[in-house]
Amino acid sequence: MSNQIDLAVIGGTGVYALAELENVEARTPDTPYGPASGPVRIGTLAGRRVAFLARHGEGHSVPPHRINYRANLAALQQVGARRVLALNTVGGITEGYGPRVLACVDQLIDYTWGRVSTLCEEPGTEVLHIDFGEPYTPVLRRAVLDAAERAGVAVVDGGCYGATQGPRLETRAEIARLRRDGCDVVGMTGMPEAGLARELGLDYASLSIVANWASGAGPQPDEVITLDDVLANVAAASAGVARIVRALVEA
Ligand code: HPA
Repeated sequence: MSNQIDLAVIGGTGVYALAELENVEARTPDTPYGPASGPVRIGTLAGRRVAFLARHGEGHSVPPHRINYRANLAALQQVGARRVLALNTVGGITEGYGPRVLACVDQLIDYTWGRVSTLCEEPGTEVLHIDFGEPYTPVLRRAVLDAAERAGVAVVDGGCYGATQGPRLETRAEIARLRRDGCDVVGMTGMPEAGLARELGLDYASLSIVANWASGAGPQPDEVITLDDVLANVAAASAGVARIVRALVEA
């Protein structure tokens, strides 16, 4: 345990560090769930203590279904974080969620399977039935949206995140189904992370970075999605993300 952390940021695909973090120290807390994806980097940003963790590891070595989501969140909590901003690289499905759009989503649908998705795994642990009607913490969402406005960065307010299993991308039929279900964006890491954050009592919001049109969703339905395009679009959006993070901790 240590000093309070003002904000913890979890970086997704293409976001492996917070460039603006200063005086950074690395911590690798022992969690009840084993090791996190990598070190928690703690430093100062705009005079506040901020922690950063690369969800897939700093060299992107952990695929979405193998991430120890429990350990990642517990590690952030153990270093003193109470609120977590998840950066999620996603594909866009509906109009308004095209490449390079940032969205502070407000709903999700979980299509993942076979992941350790709750703290109530081990015999003898308390059975938790958390309320999850609002899967993202409304006050933190509001703070993110206000920060974006102050920073002059456009962010879509709301949207439904479909969490798929990966690591492969989806078929066109799968994306058509997600669209019918009401999903606006699709990613592979939104769950169980959001549910575990709630079980742990952490405030949690997602800033989803649209990196590509999901399969069949864009103007060229047979377009092939490449990692190069994904990374280029995340890189293009990263300056805006950094400004939002700064405005959020400055508040
Ligand atoms: N599908 C799922 N996850 C993603 C995508 C996608 O199209 N793009 C970035 N992460």
